[in-house]
Amino acid sequence: MRVAIGSDHAGYELKNQLLEWLKTQVDELNDLGTNSEESVDYPDFAHAVAGEVEKGNYDLGILICGTGIGVDMTANKHQGIRSALCWNKEVSKLAKSHNNANVICLPGRFITTETAKEILDTFLNTKFEGGRHNRRINKISC
Ligand code: RB5
Repeated sequence: MRVAIGSDHAGYELKNQLLEWLKTQVDELNDLGTNSEESVDYPDFAHAVAGEVEKGNYDLGILICGTGIGVDMTANKHQGIRSALCWNKEVSKLAKSHNNANVICLPGRFITTETAKEILDTFLNTKFEGGRHNRRINKISC
């Protein structure tokens, strides 16, 4: 599993707290920034991660901003991306099993590191169910 991760300044602290643990959960992890708490624009990092997943260079993307909303909106502008904003493990399970999300967005200012690990562990270890959900996700693009 090849994973790209990115955040803005509001997600930087949570991203940092997740990096070492994440490296033990996936085959390859590429941190595309940001690299400090200096204020930046979340679309720059969301486009970088979503673009890499869209091109097929990574299997999944992880994005973190304050609410998770801005990075989620940005990632979903990419045709090949199904991005899901997840705040608990139940939602992240459904984001993969029903929506086959290939980018997961976390609200860095509203969840703990432990909750973030639960969410990501669930996301990484859940399989897409296919069947009727395949028909539905094939109707998303416009
Ligand atoms: C940054 O202050 C904040 O607006 C951003 O991290 C995010 O929450 C936007 O959706």
